[in-house]
Amino acid sequence: MIIAIDGPAASGKGTLAKRLAAYYGLPHLDTGLLYRATAKAMLDADQSLQNIEAAVSAARGLALIDFDADALRGREMGEAASIVAAIPQVREALNAVQRNFAHRPGGAVLDGRDIGTVICPEADVKIFVIASADARAQRRALELGQRGEKVTFTDILADIKQRDMRDSQRMTAPLKAAADAVVLDTTNLSVDTAFQAARSMIDRLRPEPA
Ligand code: CDP
Repeated sequence: MIIAIDGPAASGKGTLAKRLAAYYGLPHLDTGLLYRATAKAMLDADQSLQNIEAAVSAARGLALIDFDADALRGREMGEAASIVAAIPQVREALNAVQRNFAHRPGGAVLDGRDIGTVICPEADVKIFVIASADARAQRRALELGQRGEKVTFTDILADIKQRDMRDSQRMTAPLKAAADAVVLDTTNLSVDTAFQAARSMIDRLRPEPA
């Protein structure tokens, strides 16, 4: 079973994807990390994030195994990721690794922006996770605060709005719900309630064998 989870920044898609993967015993790929790692490789090499050739070579040079997910989750890398993610050639370079992951025997859970629309239009289950910009900014400010980053709610809300715009207005693989995705609004849901809602939806779509 392939489960595709998409949605805007800090909507709760990563947390949900992780919970679902553990529950169904499936491997999970946080595809945002691929874009974050591409951006980090460029910043580490003092490259401009607009340099297409350098971005493609950074994307091609990624080795999933070396990912230090924690180092990639900071504020700066989220913003930088959304800049390189708008480069069509970078997306192209990262397609195969995502598709191969999705088509592992038994399936997988992938979360990102274009999983249900571009990477796995054939996914068995597609969930588009949303939440109000205020709720997302609150969650992200809390998360970054816990990482020790000094941030204000106002700054993070501005980041979130800018990122929503960049991600949904880009020409290639913009953030949008697939026509056959189910929308899950987590604005007023706890992590647990969101998980239960997604689980019952999945079990309705894919009843477990008796
Ligand atoms: O956790 P958060 O939602 O803030 O970010 P993320 O999922 O790690 O993604 C960081 C950035 O990478 C996003 O703002 C997108 O621009 C880009 N991205 C993408 O374009 N396609 C994906 N499948 C995943 C991430």
